[in-house]
Amino acid sequence: MNPQEKLEKLSGIPAMVLQKTDSTNLRLKEAARAGKITAPFMLVASAQTQGRGRLGRSFLSPEGGLYMSLLLPLSRGKLPLTVIAAVAVCRAIEEMTPCSPRVKWVNDLFWKGKKICGILAEGVEQGAVLGIGINLKTPEGGFPGVPVAGALDCDTDSIALAARIARTLTELLDEEDESGILRDYRERMLLIGKTVSYTQNGQQKNARVLGVDEAGGLTVENAEGEKETLRTGEVSLGSDQLSAFGDDLENRQPQ
Ligand code: BTN
Repeated sequence: MNPQEKLEKLSGIPAMVLQKTDSTNLRLKEAARAGKITAPFMLVASAQTQGRGRLGRSFLSPEGGLYMSLLLPLSRGKLPLTVIAAVAVCRAIEEMTPCSPRVKWVNDLFWKGKKICGILAEGVEQGAVLGIGINLKTPEGGFPGVPVAGALDCDTDSIALAARIARTLTELLDEEDESGILRDYRERMLLIGKTVSYTQNGQQKNARVLGVDEAGGLTVENAEGEKETLRTGEVSLGSDQLSAFGDDLENRQPQ
């Protein structure tokens, strides 16, 4: 069985496997717009030359990673697709490797204090294109220019992992009751009780993280006791706090 047949068989979704491409999200959006594919469809590559990240950034995608994009029908639930995807990726990694990643809101996954997975959802008329990039192995030269990046560094079959993620995700998207997904997301959250900084209306703010609300928003409280819930954007931590997470995570036993 070739990798594509294996991926389709294990995931139950029509799929294509490439050695290298510019960006699986770009390829899938183009194919969807041209009417060449319909949802659900999955594209998997082992390297990308123009990996796309959130907020217009690039995503370093060296050989040997798992870079996958799924064309999905638009979801109907309360939780954002990216929150559901973060839970699906965590569950799949936990089931197929000895690693148990944690989530940095909204959807960056960390393992041993390093970012090992990024998730990017983009809309097209035909549905949502959900891109997931996982660093499976640290390349020989590391991740130049991306000090936060790390890898799972365990032996795993990338096609089987991609299939497990896709299958888990489609199952979660079918769930009427999202409370189990929210529980899993909250259990894996890294930021609770930490002071984060973020920019709002051009203003830099600091606040302590209280939790995640029913719709996946991040509830924070500032030094004056004022609470607010962040729905989009990004929060950052001081590097001292991030490395503290690394120690926590290294001491944590896989579930
Ligand atoms: C981020 O962390 O900023 C999101 C990164 C998303 C990367 C994935 S890799 C597969 C898919 N194709 C892309 O070009 N980007 C996403």
